[in-house]
Amino acid sequence: MKSIQSMIQKSLAFLVTWLFAMVLPVGAQTDFIGLYLTWQRDPTTTMTVNWVNLYEEGTVTVWHRVQGTEKWFSKSGKRHQARPSVFQVRRVELTGLKPETTYEFALGDEAPSEPKGIYKFRTMPAELKRPVRFVNGGDMMHSRELMDAMNRQAAKLDPDFAYLGGDLAYENGSNVSRYCDWFPSWHSGRRGGRGGWNPFVTGIGNHEVKGHYGGRIPDDAPYFYGFFALPEGRSYYSLDFGRYLSLVVLDSGHTQPISGKQTQWLASTLAARAQQQFLFAGYHWPVYGTAKAQPGLLPCDSPRSQEMRTNWVSQFERHGVSVIFEHDHHTYKRTHRLRNHQRDDENGLLFLGDGAWGVNTRDPVSPDKAWYLAKSEARRHLFSVTLHPEGRFYVEAVDANGTVFDRVEALSPRTKPMAN
Ligand SMILES: [Fe+2]
Ligand SMILES: [Fe+2]
Repeated sequence: MKSIQSMIQKSLAFLVTWLFAMVLPVGAQTDFIGLYLTWQRDPTTTMTVNWVNLYEEGTVTVWHRVQGTEKWFSKSGKRHQARPSVFQVRRVELTGLKPETTYEFALGDEAPSEPKGIYKFRTMPAELKRPVRFVNGGDMMHSRELMDAMNRQAAKLDPDFAYLGGDLAYENGSNVSRYCDWFPSWHSGRRGGRGGWNPFVTGIGNHEVKGHYGGRIPDDAPYFYGFFALPEGRSYYSLDFGRYLSLVVLDSGHTQPISGKQTQWLASTLAARAQQQFLFAGYHWPVYGTAKAQPGLLPCDSPRSQEMRTNWVSQFERHGVSVIFEHDHHTYKRTHRLRNHQRDDENGLLFLGDGAWGVNTRDPVSPDKAWYLAKSEARRHLFSVTLHPEGRFYVEAVDANGTVFDRVEALSPRTKPMAN
């Protein structure tokens, strides 16, 4: 008799718990599909706080204060639906922040009254007076397990931010539920260190787009454009960190043509950033690829790679860059230093890739078969980039076990500007 009573009690307890879970207050933490930080402009004085859930109702307010101070300040933003899904995106851009400062923040209609639900971020320094670190990678989630493993390594490195190169959740512009894993995976490893929550900057890949290339904006990439507030409101943009760093993010034909407007924009963007100390560029499809080639040809011979080389790489050579990040081929690669489509150990550009954060790898072409490759390997990895105030930088390739298996040290911040 007792066991029947106990079974009934257990069933009732389960039912109540389940009902409670179904009617949790909107905006409660358990309703989150994702909370993530991005930038729309100046990373030294702004931060965009984004969160996604399934409910139209709920707060659009972020409370924030400098860590260690008492008074909370509130800022309200906007909600929109990431159509055609029912996912609700809320976005609040905090502005007028102090550089190199840790802030606490919380979501809610009222100022937080308990430590639970208070998160942290740190604004970027206005000047490069300490080493700044970011991580790069793309092609992130064939499976949650693979993405989690690399995210743990990223979190251990405690970067100032991440620069992601597309093929994030592999939702192909339609399977939005994959973000129910991508967002939690992204923030699960980020707890301590430099502000707790690392912002990310992202480019677009073919797996954000129905049909992969030539997609219409925003209909063919509704979740890339729905979830991410992009600087300059486009899939190609630049982001400047004081006078010490610029990122240039390009769209390798997924929703924007390579030549034409994007190339003209790149020319003026690079010219205007000649005085920036470091300048990193990146995009999804590689110019110097490793794993996708027509029979008898090298990956760099693909028409898309050639178009990008003619339109973009020539400009990188003209203006000088720190490193160019490429993705998509699901391998590890480091090229020789290259200029004019030849090896140039003195003043060539360095291309790192090829997108294997959390995907099954492909077998890359080996360096003895592709003249431009210094190293290639079927190995999941991220790049950890550390910038030093005096203009040196180094890049480490880190695998899912945390092993550093390749390293580049550059003594000057950018290649010398040089017209061909
Ligand atoms: Fe990919
Ligand atoms: Fe891809």
